[in-house]
Order: sequence, then C-alpha cells, then structure tokens
Amino acid sequence: MSDNPAVDTPRAVRLEALAYGGDYNPDQWSEEVWAEDMRLMREAGVNMVSLPIFSWPQLEPEPGVYDWGWLDRILDLLHENGIAIDLATATATPPSWLLRAHPEMMPMDADGHRLEFGSRQVYCPSSPVWRENVARMTRAMAERYGEHPGLAMWHISNEYGDHVSRCWCPESAAHFRRWLKDRYGDLDGLNEAWGVNVWGQRYTSWDHIEAPRKAPGPINPTQLLDFERFSSDAMLELFQLEIDVLRDVTPDIAVTTNFMSMFRDLDYWEFAEREDVVTDDAYPDPADPISHVGAALNYGLMRSLKGGRPWLLLESSASGTSWRDINVPKGPGKIRVESLQAVAHGSDAVMFFQWRQAKYGQEKFHSSMLGHRGEDSRSFQETKALGLELQRLEEVRGTRVRSRVALVVDWDSWWGSSAVESLPSQRLNWARQARAWQRALYLLGHPVDAVKATGPFDRYDVVVVPNLYIADAAQAAALTAFADAGGTVVVGPFSGVVDDTEKVHDGGAPGPFRGLLGVEVDEQWPVNDGLAEIVAYGGRAYDSPIWGEWIEALDGTEVRGSYASGELAGLPAVTSRPVGAGSAWYVSCVLDDDGLVAVLRDALTEAGLPARDRVDVHLEAVTRSSDDTDYTFVLNHGHAPISVEVPAGARDLITGGTAASPLTLERFGVAVLAMARAEHAPFITLAPERLS
Ligand code: GLA
Repeated sequence: MSDNPAVDTPRAVRLEALAYGGDYNPDQWSEEVWAEDMRLMREAGVNMVSLPIFSWPQLEPEPGVYDWGWLDRILDLLHENGIAIDLATATATPPSWLLRAHPEMMPMDADGHRLEFGSRQVYCPSSPVWRENVARMTRAMAERYGEHPGLAMWHISNEYGDHVSRCWCPESAAHFRRWLKDRYGDLDGLNEAWGVNVWGQRYTSWDHIEAPRKAPGPINPTQLLDFERFSSDAMLELFQLEIDVLRDVTPDIAVTTNFMSMFRDLDYWEFAEREDVVTDDAYPDPADPISHVGAALNYGLMRSLKGGRPWLLLESSASGTSWRDINVPKGPGKIRVESLQAVAHGSDAVMFFQWRQAKYGQEKFHSSMLGHRGEDSRSFQETKALGLELQRLEEVRGTRVRSRVALVVDWDSWWGSSAVESLPSQRLNWARQARAWQRALYLLGHPVDAVKATGPFDRYDVVVVPNLYIADAAQAAALTAFADAGGTVVVGPFSGVVDDTEKVHDGGAPGPFRGLLGVEVDEQWPVNDGLAEIVAYGGRAYDSPIWGEWIEALDGTEVRGSYASGELAGLPAVTSRPVGAGSAWYVSCVLDDDGLVAVLRDALTEAGLPARDRVDVHLEAVTRSSDDTDYTFVLNHGHAPISVEVPAGARDLITGGTAASPLTLERFGVAVLAMARAEHAPFITLAPERLS
C-alpha cells in the first residue's frame, strides 16, 4: 500500500483489568438463557466478551432493514453486569442476500472455481461491492454503538484470511494489475522485474497479466511472490477501510483485528502498525505435548508487533477444538498453564472461543468456557477457577517482557521460500527454520522477541536470522551496525540469496551479507528425504538433514564446525567472525535439535548471555517487568514435577507467600515471582539433581 497511516500513540482499551472472557453468541440462544449467562459470567470473573462477530444477517435481515433490538438489549445487559464489550463490526461474513445479488463477490480458487455460500467468509477481498457494504455496515455499527458506555474496543472483521486469504477471480486480477502498476510504473518495469525472458513470459499489455492461476508448469517466481504481497495488501486495504470509518465516527476508541498467531498469508507487521492493540487467537494442539514451545514464538511475535506493548489473547480453547481431524481435549490444569503462558509472554487478557458451547452448527463440538453439561462441566469449573486466579495477577497488567534475544521475522522471505515451486529444496523454508531455531533458544532458557531484519536491535544482545532468502543492503547494513556496536548476529542457511524481485545477488549467496559473515556460498546442497549428512561441531557429531552448502570461509573467518560426510566432507559448515565490537556467525546447514542447541549455546555464551546446561522442554521462564519490579513466570508444561532454582525472597503472586528455592512445580504448575527489578531478568535453571 502506498500510504501508511501508522498509529504512533495507540488508544487504550477501555478496561481497567486483565481481560477475561470470550466470544459470545447470544443470538444463538433465547433471551432466558442470557440471564443465566450473566450470572455465570460474573461467577467466573468474566469482564469482557466479543460480539456480534458473525451476526450481520441477524442485524440486517434484508437490505437496508436493520434489527438492532436484540443487540441493544444484550449490550445493555452486559454493561449492567459490569462486562465490557469488544464490539465486532459484524463484517466477518456476508449475508446470503448480498451474495445472491452480487455473485461476482464470491471468492475464486486457483482452479477458477467460485467458493459457495454455506460457510463463512465468502467474499473476495478486492470486491468493490463487498468493500462498499463493509464500509456501510461498519458505519451503521459505529453510529449506533459508538457512545455505548460498555464499549471497550472495536473488533474489526475476524481473523482476516482464515478461510480465504487469496482470491483468483477477475476482480482480484484487475486489482492485482493496479497494484503492479503502482509498484513498477510501466510494463517495461514489470517485465524487467519479473525476468520475463525466461520461458517467454514477456507482457505486451497490462490486460494480459493474470493472478497466477493454475498453469501448465512452474509459474514465474516473481509473479508468485508479488501475488503473495498483493494478497496481503488487498486484505490490509479492507482493514484500513474499516479503520477509517471507525476513526471518523469514534476517534477515541481502540481498534484491533484478531490475528492467527504466526500466520503465513498476511504480513502482520503491516497490520499491527495500523491498529491500537494487537490481539491474537491461539490454538496450540492439545495432542502435541510440546505445542507450548511453538506458542512461545507466536506470543513473542505478538508482543513485538507493537514494540513490546502488551497484547491480548482474544481467543483460545478451553479444551478441544472442532476443526482438527482429531480434536483431543486438554487434561486437567492444561488450560491454566497455557493461559498463564500467554500472560507470561505479555498478554493482558485470557479469552476463549467461546463462552457457551454451541448447541448446533459447525462448532457444536468445540469446547467452551461453559460446556454442554452446564455449570458442572469441567471446562466451567476450570475456567472459573482461572478467572478468579487471574485477579491475583493484576499487578502484571501493562508490564513488558524482557528478552535479550530477538529472531528476525520476515514475510517476504517466508513467501519467497515457500510460494515458489522452483527452489533447490521444498523442505527448507523460513517458517521451518524459525521454529527450529526458536525451539533451541527456548531449550537454552531464552524467550525470543520478533524483530524486522532492519531492526531496531538496540534492546538485544543476540539477533538470530534463521533464514533470510530475500535480502537487501539495508538489512545487511542494519545487522552489521548491530554487530559493530557489540551485538552477536547468527545467520542461518539460504540467506542473502535473491533481491526483492527474486534475482540472485551478484556473486551468489550470501549476497549483501558477504562482508558481515565472511563466507561465500558456491552451491546449495540439499539433502534427500530420510537422509542426513554429518556435521562435526565442538568435538561432537550431529545430523544435518535437509540442507547443506558448499561454502568457503574468507580471511578472518573462523571455521567452528565442518561437514564430516558426503561430498561436502571437510568444508566449513558453521563459521564465526569478529565484527567491530561484536561478532557474526553463519550456520550453512540444517542441524538436528542437539546440534543447533550446541551452536546457539556457544553463540549466547560468547555474547555474555546465560544458557541452560541442562535442558527440559517442559520448563519455561519468562519475565515481565515494570519500572521497579520483575515478575518472573515459571511454568511447568509437563506432567512430571520440575524443581528450579529461583532468587531468594521472591513473593509468589499466586500463593501470596515467599517462594522457596529450589521451587518444585507439580504437573502444569505455575509460579509468578515478584521481586525488585534487576539489571537483567532473572535466569531460571533446573535445580541440581539430588543423588539418591
Ligand atoms: C477461530 C474463529 C472463531 C472460531 C474458532 C474456533 O479462531 O475466529 O470464530 O471459529 O476459530 O477454534
């Protein structure tokens, strides 16, 4: 998008407490049930709900004919009961009458098929009819409820891109062409950028350009990459359109749209800049015993999207979901530890999808705060206890997480390394690399913030770049300046390969990072599925599946680890190099978890950071700090007890007493330790094993 109306001073959410509650769908229930809802919500400590997210047809049953009565009544009732409102603009899904009057607004897939009504989110993001109606509905909602005393914030649309994030219809193609004209100016510019002399792709008219529908073979990579960028921008325009209406009618009310954690299809850096508060929907898979590790990266991103400000966990599940093939429930206590994990990572809210479990429709088997069984349901008993417990943590509201390590999150490289069909390997991509590197840092005891490749890096000691396939000189300069000033940069494989039009940098990889890293890549060397090469590092041998590189270390670059098998045997695999007052590492291969932990442990230690000697995938510690107090959350995500060493004299906000050291956390146990703010956040380690 050309202009960027970033929010410099975010408006505050109108709620003076950690938010607790969930999505609320009162229009699926009779009004008698509402009274019981209010009673039970109060009992469970609910202080905010989100509605009416999917209720456009109930609010405007016929074009221009509104039925506000039920919404007026429930909003008043909520307010009378002290429950704040995260008010949705009701534009998450169109009514059937709008679609039937304008079938051209139905989205189209890459095969050219229209997606039918019968589910939600049936719209093309570029459709002028859709946009016009969205603006109209948003204005109607804002004009009617903008002054409602219960209004805490605006919830725009819902999970943009959840079901439809790309549309290949003629309207989208026309929009794509306009977007390309803006980017490249004229056809010569586009032809140059897209490298059209390969496979005879030259365009002689703008009208000849299509959205990249299914083609006979691999599609022009720059066309694919631009379509990813365009599709994210098309959704961003839709978001901005609603923001503009709301700013016009209710300039003082905070706006948000709920994100979907680490979501490939939308560049959340761009979305977050335009809203007042970041909100996230998090659904770690209960069937995955280490899903909390990935959740930590998602939450690291959420707090970083607006420079470390608190964010809100707007949706999570009280137990199982209903959209997985197999929806495993959460065992007793798991919802508590998962919710408090989000708070540990900077969320000022714990909210669920949804308040009352549905009786019918697509989500009737999705768990809720109040299960089908009612007050006696385990989910109600557990969420009620959690709601009350959360009130003891009120002190942490507004405080910020302190991390010393940041991980570069870059949507361009994510798209470039995953949208394109013609790459050395389809097994290596940004997200896979980011997840693996964060997992190693988690094991070593460090929560990571997310950061753009251009920074700012000043809050960190170590910046890791697990992959940056698309890279430019500005990013290299920012990372080099960070190292010059004493920082440690660790760069992963297949980085600095192409520019933003997907042209290989002169001389090949690592392109603009050549000076920083002091290496040259001769050839990418992917490893076949099921195989692994060996990399020798620090006196040990580690598996290197998926990827290697034929690299040469330049003068002044130290070889820290080498390939020890296959065609690359004897060549450098891991290097480091002093840069100014800091250093830069290059990891040219994909290492197994132990190998990555070993390399990153050395990088952290040499940067002067602590790192756990003994690792435990179930132990997590994260510190939120105010100006004078550190709040260290210590979480046991597993079933077996964990004993940890904690600073002496810390007050546990949960028990109200002084925490002992060593402190033992039982299954899914959590402690929130308050103590005077130290120069660095306390570093929590496992207690020494007792000899029996
Ligand atoms: C998403 C949606 C909700 C609901 C949940 C179920 O987060 O925003 O409306 O469908 O999924 O997990």
